Amino acid sequence: MQFFERHEGGERAVLLHVASRQQSRAEDLDEFRELVDSAGAEILGECLASREAPDPRLYIGKGKAEELADLVKSTEADLVVVNAQLSPSQERNLESVLHCRVLDRTGLILDIFSQRARSHEGKLQVELAQLKHLSTRLVRGWTHLERQRGGSIGLRGPGETQLEMDRRLIHDRIKQLQDRIAKVRRQRQEGRKTRQKSQVPMVSLVGYTNAGKSTLFNALTEAGTFAADQLFATLDTTLRRLEFAPGEPMVLADTVGFIRHLPHELVTAFRSTLEETLEADLLIHVVDAASPERDRQMTDVEVVLKEIGADTLPRLTVMNKIDQLEDRAPEISRNEAGEIDRVWMSAQSGAGMDLLRQALGERLRPTRTIINLFLPASLGGLRARWLNEGAIVTEHWQDDRMHDEMPQPGWQLTLSLTEARWAQWRKHHPELEACLAAPA
Ligand code: GTP
Repeated sequence: MQFFERHEGGERAVLLHVASRQQSRAEDLDEFRELVDSAGAEILGECLASREAPDPRLYIGKGKAEELADLVKSTEADLVVVNAQLSPSQERNLESVLHCRVLDRTGLILDIFSQRARSHEGKLQVELAQLKHLSTRLVRGWTHLERQRGGSIGLRGPGETQLEMDRRLIHDRIKQLQDRIAKVRRQRQEGRKTRQKSQVPMVSLVGYTNAGKSTLFNALTEAGTFAADQLFATLDTTLRRLEFAPGEPMVLADTVGFIRHLPHELVTAFRSTLEETLEADLLIHVVDAASPERDRQMTDVEVVLKEIGADTLPRLTVMNKIDQLEDRAPEISRNEAGEIDRVWMSAQSGAGMDLLRQALGERLRPTRTIINLFLPASLGGLRARWLNEGAIVTEHWQDDRMHDEMPQPGWQLTLSLTEARWAQWRKHHPELEACLAAPA
């Protein structure tokens, strides 16, 4: 069922970039251009406007609107894309001044999402977001449409009966989509349970859009996931089971790329595609190391991970695209705990893939070590934390035990931890050295 028109790629577009003084204009403008390009539109001209507060009628000032109308005319553009969120009436008013279609930032991103969604749930989520977006426009745009009926281009809307019917149909469809999404989710959760039972580790690729996640996913799985030099080539988690070493399976999830200033209507659709991420045993943060925006993009990703509660998950950073950097050979680096935390590589050329596999091996197949120690009651806080971590194998309470040259009550403990984790504990708690030294 199709209730609305999706615009086809290859449209002739003029961009309107509205910035306030505080914003870093160049950065935003670059991203905006890339988004428009991703949607498949051809950029024929650009117009910059500075505004602290949007005009309620047109969003921009009247003079700016006229300038824009001239640009549209001279370039013969048939679409104006605005890098801001417009109210339905602003969109309509601009259309009547500019005599062409106007798309705001939400519309633009929805359009990209709808072209990119591949999985069943991804498609459903996008359609739901589109319908919700459309329904607010129909309801709120109503009085305006009524007044302008029979008017100029872009405003010859459907009549009253048609609108009422559309609204009802949209509501029914929204309900239907929500039911289907719930069903798909249940199926996904079942899959997750089976996976947990089989104890196959789960690895999620996250990262800024265009960082190279799909390319890396393919390089690891040779699965042929769609990868293209466009923003949002992935709008869904795609799961694959593969072996990171012979006989050692893992499940790899590719996720949709992050982006700045995601319109709030799209946050749910976007987050739901990241849900798998929260289940991961390891997150691989893929970074376009050759991007001039690298640091900013890394921070953006961190912020979102924190928001969804994924910032505490074990992390491996892949600095991708080193083939585009001078003097950068494949390399790994380790954190304080001795774990590999960063791999410099190129998913496209394959340089450093061996290092990534090594990192996966070490991080997913941690060797556990057994530690015997006496923990005096005064350090009981540590015992509680080890209990939480599931690190305690056995424990025996002792009332009177020589420790630090004094008889003390405490626990005789056997712990099972990864080498790296144990190294961390020792580093942050030097008092543990005495506990190890104590004779049993
Ligand atoms: P979204 O789906 O938009 O989030 O993007 P993504 O992170 O999945 O990126 P994708 O794998 O689609 O790659 C984006 C572009 O970067 C493609 O044109 C890739 O060919 C290119 N690319 C990926 N890895 C490398 C690399 O190591 N070196 C170079 N030079 N290009 C790469």
